[in-house]
Amino acid sequence: MNFEFQNPTKIIFGAGTLARLGEVVSEYGKKAMIVTGGGSVKRTGAFDKAVESLKDAGVSYVECTDVEPNPRITSVARGAKIAKDEGCDVIIALGGGSTMDAAKVMGAAALYDGNPWDMILHGQEEVYIPTETLPVITVPTLAATGSEANCGAVITNDETKIKSFIQIPLLFPKVAVVDPELTVSVPQDHTAYGVCDIITHVMEGYFNGVDGTPIQDRFAEGVIINAIEYGRKAVANGEDIEARAHVQWASIVALNGWVQAGVHMLAPMHMIEHALSAHHDLTHGAGLAIVGPAWMRFAAKYRPERFAQFAQRIFGLSAEGKDALTLGMEGIDAYESFLREIECPTTLSEVNINGEFFEQYAKDAALVVRDEDGKLLGRPPMSTEDIVEVLKSAL
Ligand code: NZQ
Ligand code: ZN
Repeated sequence: MNFEFQNPTKIIFGAGTLARLGEVVSEYGKKAMIVTGGGSVKRTGAFDKAVESLKDAGVSYVECTDVEPNPRITSVARGAKIAKDEGCDVIIALGGGSTMDAAKVMGAAALYDGNPWDMILHGQEEVYIPTETLPVITVPTLAATGSEANCGAVITNDETKIKSFIQIPLLFPKVAVVDPELTVSVPQDHTAYGVCDIITHVMEGYFNGVDGTPIQDRFAEGVIINAIEYGRKAVANGEDIEARAHVQWASIVALNGWVQAGVHMLAPMHMIEHALSAHHDLTHGAGLAIVGPAWMRFAAKYRPERFAQFAQRIFGLSAEGKDALTLGMEGIDAYESFLREIECPTTLSEVNINGEFFEQYAKDAALVVRDEDGKLLGRPPMSTEDIVEVLKSAL
């Protein structure tokens, strides 16, 4: 194994921690831009509590509202302009992954005169890599992406229908104020999609990483087992604060780099899902529930022992009398049953996607993370035909 690991985001975790937002933000600035989504934080009262805490700490604020799910680059540019025009010195992201991702890129875009799309990898010859950003404080209201404590952001260009990412250390938030009480209002469907996203984050490394990472395997399995156990509870009873807290912590550790250290993770399920949600505005976790099992059945043929391990360790399935591939496939079936139990879609037809543009989605999926033959990186690397085959199997 060889790796470098550093995650500088300070995490303040626990029910009621939103009250500390003002104290936290005041260490970084006196005038904040609060970035929010479509209004859930206003309806739940989270916004008012955040503002009260800022006032107590003597921090003034302006707002950037209406960041959409699958955040658009136009929203990023709008927010960057507000921050610039208003002279904000710190950014607060109060919302789900979409709001947090947009806010993280706004922070860098506020100090850049060009088009923020220059920073998002989309196959351009020259990528603009920002070197400065306004400090960003994240306050997640939905457990899913782990964006609150990682250095990635995923942004959509509605004109070109490309959804892609930036991932650089500059984008680590300074502090994540993680208050599980804020997730109690997340509806059942989005709670379930978040659970699927969490599980898929560690699965990407588990199935697509290098060999010989036994400790990381166990970390990943621990995240999956707990996401299933407490995810099931949070979906069944959204008021279960203990379940909400464990799911939220799972979402952070699943993608803050720790489980991935030394694994050299690749993320083909994510790349395929991003192509779908760019064209169809799908909820990310729902798209992963569809792509995940289909991709796994494809990949299991190339690495059956790993999928057999998954079946045994996650679902306790017996290996007796079975070859590795049979057992691996049973594990995938068990995973798909769990997704159905929490009412995630697992076929494309359930979200009204047909086969018409599969080639296009396949090309978009391999636009950035590809080998020299143009194949989407993963275990195994996937040609356009492979991706189309996986999509067809998900119909
Ligand atoms: O927009 P509002 O009104 O806030 O409503 C949102 C939205 O409709 C709602 N919601 C959020 N918190 C709520 C709530 N409703 C009630 N109560 C609350 N407490 O939930 C809906 C979905 O929100 P969104 O932010 O879009 O969901 P999520 O957190 O799943 O973020 C998805 C985005 O993150 C990207 C995805 O591709 C997608 O664009 N990802 C970001 C990653 C990262 N930065 O590391 C990694 C992921 O793999 C992912 O790609
Ligand atoms: Zn994800």
